[in-house]
Amino acid sequence: MSAEAVYADPEDLASGPLRTLAVVGSSPAPGPGESVVEVESGALPIVEAPAPGVDPGVAEEFVRLFHTENPMAGPAEPRIAAVREEIARTGTYVHTHAELEFGARIAWRNSARCIGRLYWRSLHLRDRRHVTAPDQVAAECVGHLREATRRGRIRSTITIFAPDGPAGPGPRVWNEQLIRYAGYRAGGRVLGDPRYVGFTDTARSLGWLPPSPMGRFDVLPLVVSGGGEHAAGGPQFFEVPRDAVLEVALAHAEHPWFAELGLRWHALPVISNMRLDIGGISYPAAPFNGWYMATEISARNLADSDRYDMLAEVAEAMGLDTSSDRTLWRDRAAIELTAAVQHSFDEAGVSLADHHGESRRFLRFVEKEEAAGRHCPVDWSWIVPPISGGLTPVFHRYYDESTDTGPMFHLDDQAAARGQGCPN
Ligand code: ARG
Repeated sequence: MSAEAVYADPEDLASGPLRTLAVVGSSPAPGPGESVVEVESGALPIVEAPAPGVDPGVAEEFVRLFHTENPMAGPAEPRIAAVREEIARTGTYVHTHAELEFGARIAWRNSARCIGRLYWRSLHLRDRRHVTAPDQVAAECVGHLREATRRGRIRSTITIFAPDGPAGPGPRVWNEQLIRYAGYRAGGRVLGDPRYVGFTDTARSLGWLPPSPMGRFDVLPLVVSGGGEHAAGGPQFFEVPRDAVLEVALAHAEHPWFAELGLRWHALPVISNMRLDIGGISYPAAPFNGWYMATEISARNLADSDRYDMLAEVAEAMGLDTSSDRTLWRDRAAIELTAAVQHSFDEAGVSLADHHGESRRFLRFVEKEEAAGRHCPVDWSWIVPPISGGLTPVFHRYYDESTDTGPMFHLDDQAAARGQGCPN
């Protein structure tokens, strides 16, 4: 009944204490008549015009924020003058390493839907702004997986590739996350993750061959299009090496039958279809990860009726009466699925938050932001966990509205054009 961690590369083991936090929230309940899941269309990318020059006012505002929050960096004025001069001359400017790291951390701090923001200062930056070729982008994404996973001692990490600029676009990762499972239409049903049926078709149209036999948890390839001088070539696919993907097989501490369901999930959620905007510069490929909160896997990915839809199977194995909603079989199955995810990740030594602890830490984050006199945007419908909402303290209060200023992650336009939504 023990949880099994499937993994490899010994070089990934780094030292340091097990950190216990940093997680993006679980995504909102769908509104009336609205489905959370949008299956991607597999449409071709929209060719964008070169980005117009950077707005010097937006750049200045960011540089001021950087110097205000980093007094050790000295006065803002000389840097503002240099940035304005650079923009006038070239149409853009180059962030210093410190500015880039700060901008990425602030974009996390500003993410209204993320419950794991208490440790925004710890985000680890991999600066890959010189990388534009598709094969190198893919190799660096695999490097990200290895560096962030650390055999389960997950580290919050972002890899930033070349920005869009007057000379051409930056590269793009077409995947919603670096690790996701394929979905195959089979008759009227789907084998695997229904959310990725469209993306799986796109990968196959590029020449990707699914493993044989196809399974419920086949890791999709990376699909990347290049930037700069590589922008003209279309998207290419790259297989993710097995040993870069840590997965946890799911078992339940008290129900031996649970392991027989054959469920598993990947340890690392790495969102890869959001653009990072900092001070007027847009980085279209900037994959970032935290670590999972159990309910994201148990009460959404494995439970939603348009995802793995496992609640009925779990309830039946539990011997529950599924003839009426009023027996609360769905609720009880979702709780046991959550217990199984927590137990399995704990046994495998993989970082994982639970919704109670994470909610408390989130309120500490909000209090700190208020104490610092900062506006703290929060999207209640994403922050409240998908089970036991009212049992967590985040449920019971109001928050600041979301705004759209400052460094921020946005769904990339090309991702939206392909029908992808925010990776909830
Ligand atoms: N909910 C998404 C998923 O299941 C991941 C979103 C990011 N979550 C995180 N803990 N950083 O894959």
